[in-house]
Amino acid sequence: MTKIRIAIQKSGRLNEDSLQILKDCGISIDNGKDQLKASSRNFPMEVFYLRNGDIPQYLRDGVVDVAIIGENVLIEKGADISIAEKLGFSKCKVSLAVPKSVKYKSVQDFEGKRIATSYPNTVTNYLKKKGVRADLHIINGSVEIAPNIGLADAICDIVSSGSTLFKNNLKEVEVMLTSEAVLAVSPQISEERKALLKRLQFRIQSVLRARK
Ligand code: PRP
Ligand code: MG
Repeated sequence: MTKIRIAIQKSGRLNEDSLQILKDCGISIDNGKDQLKASSRNFPMEVFYLRNGDIPQYLRDGVVDVAIIGENVLIEKGADISIAEKLGFSKCKVSLAVPKSVKYKSVQDFEGKRIATSYPNTVTNYLKKKGVRADLHIINGSVEIAPNIGLADAICDIVSSGSTLFKNNLKEVEVMLTSEAVLAVSPQISEERKALLKRLQFRIQSVLRARK
């Protein structure tokens, strides 16, 4: 039997809400938490637990058919991948922040500055539009510590509650984009699996309507 292959975040902020929406869709997943792959008992679906940043490439390669992923990750790494549904959870911003003590006037202030980020494409595109050239320092996590240890003058990262910025004495000065979890689709999905995607979308839409 053909199954639709869905990627969800292995661990992190999206993991729980992604499993919850599948559950609310009436899709039960046999979950050995340590397993990287699981099947549903009552829907033709296989679930792959993957690292966030790897998911766009899996979609592109057609190794998975769909994924629940943050729009911010798609914008950074998968601008070529289409979105079937916005899912309404895991809302966040991708923002530029500077130390609280800095007197910030405008985005021009970033000219020639060192910015630590895990979102190099997003920052580059944003600053390019504003005609600003900065020096990017790419790191994968704990970005907000960079100004405190003298690694950068500013950071660009996800802001959700704002507490990480606050704890690190930073202030948000530019919101580059807003994001939420989405259902993304592989450009390589087969016709047979497209039919399964339709069934899944139908269920997701009624869950989202009920949540309103
Ligand atoms: C994420 C993100 C921000 C923080 C934002 O980091 O990189 O640092 O959450 O959330 P907040 O505004 O609610 O504080 P995460 O804790 O996932 O760890 P990482 O940076 O090491 O990936
Ligand atoms: Mg972080």
